[in-house]
Amino acid sequence: MTDSLTVRDNRTGQEYDVPILDGTIKAADVGKIRTAEGEPGLAVYDPGFVNTASCRSAVTFIDGDKGILEYRGYPIEQLAEKSNFLEVAYLLVHGTLPTQAEHEAWVHEITYHTFVHENVKTFMQGFRYDAHPMGMLMASVGALSTFYPDARNISDADNRHMQIVRMIAKMPTLGAWAYRHAQGKPYVYPDNDLSYTANFLSMLFKMSESKFEADPRLVKALDVLFILHADHEQNCSTNAVRSVGSSQVDPYSAVSAGVGALFGPLHGGANEAVLRMLRRIGSKENIPAFIEGVKNGNEKLMGFGHRVYKNFDPRATIIKKACEDVFEVTGVNPLLAIAQELEKIALEDEYFIKRKLYPNVDFYSGLIYEAFQFPPEMFTVLFAIGRTPGWLAQWVELVQDKEQKIARPKQIYTGDRTLDFVPASERWA
Ligand SMILES: CC(C)(COP(=O)(O)OP(=O)(O)OC[C@H]1O[C@@H](n2cnc3c(N)ncnc32)[C@H](O)[C@@H]1OP(=O)(O)O)[C@@H](O)C(=O)NCCC(=O)NCCS
Repeated sequence: MTDSLTVRDNRTGQEYDVPILDGTIKAADVGKIRTAEGEPGLAVYDPGFVNTASCRSAVTFIDGDKGILEYRGYPIEQLAEKSNFLEVAYLLVHGTLPTQAEHEAWVHEITYHTFVHENVKTFMQGFRYDAHPMGMLMASVGALSTFYPDARNISDADNRHMQIVRMIAKMPTLGAWAYRHAQGKPYVYPDNDLSYTANFLSMLFKMSESKFEADPRLVKALDVLFILHADHEQNCSTNAVRSVGSSQVDPYSAVSAGVGALFGPLHGGANEAVLRMLRRIGSKENIPAFIEGVKNGNEKLMGFGHRVYKNFDPRATIIKKACEDVFEVTGVNPLLAIAQELEKIALEDEYFIKRKLYPNVDFYSGLIYEAFQFPPEMFTVLFAIGRTPGWLAQWVELVQDKEQKIARPKQIYTGDRTLDFVPASERWA
């Protein structure tokens, strides 16, 4: 068996051997197929990059059929149970687990970069009272590029490290302040005695007490949620970070593009839709009628189904457990009973079984966030904080990858050609 593809161009009768490497063919090899010298080469049309690999990556592995998610080769289940978010962030960015000394240095660095320049605070305070926190996060992380102009020196490894530390450290500060802004409450400065996630909760919820200490079970649950969201290979926002980063802009600008992509309802917004759906169903008795409506194609069962996971979403199993831990502290959200019953019925129903529809990460995460008393607009901000190490790991990989070029897809032009311009004075005469 040879690892190549023989293609016969029926326009010319010519045959081409295209090498297959890692289950892919090079688009550039396809481009060599042309009707005549000087004519444009054959191109591939793939809106949404549904079947196009844009890079080689050693960060995250997903097998959707088997329900496998691994960061740098480690199963997500083990990381969620035995690691913590900052260690996972180190793993994603550096590619290996830290030694004790490396871990201590990493945690120390990140802890001491949680503060932002006072002008960042002033500028965040300038947003309208009802500004969406994702808009504030996107703008403020982008604005950090003006505070750290040295970040443009992306070819220097030490410099890259500095910006990575800054960004992982400051995202919770920016996210928490965006939340406090909407609440009309004073911004809370970081407390460097606390862990990464405990400090985030302090910046969100501290009022007049001298120290805010969240229940450790809540800290652990949120830390697990951050781990689950830390990377998901070439998803829309990561692709945005890579695409913008490919222009060799500084990482704050690239990550700000990632936050923008995540803001969209097709990416970061499904958990909010799950909550709305559960509220609308209202009680267990209404579930059968709701399921019938879904099966008749009236609407979708939100939080079910995934483009990649066709067996189960490994993150959903972990989140379900985290949900129970959180409700132990906060009391049970009445919507949980509806969610559980809905899941039970759907998993036994032929319609969902046949289509391989299982709960995804968003089915239970919204319930947890609500238990923390986050308003729905904050859900995506939490996602963005968790995803930051993944974006940065992918950005570092991009910057060091000799095969990468500025992202610049082709198009199939469908507009007019060679029109003669008539000046307005004649057109309107
Ligand atoms: C995630 C999602 C966009 C994946 O879509 P996809 O891979 O393109 O799958 P398709 O839309 O081709 O769906 C395949 C079939 O399952 C059905 N289906 C998919 N998700 C469904 C859902 N949540 N509820 C009911 N039916 C669903 C489709 O209608 C289609 O049925 P058909 O073959 O009879 O036409 C889709 O499952 C969805 O919209 N889910 C709800 C939103 C959600 O939870 N998103 C968060 C993702 S993390």
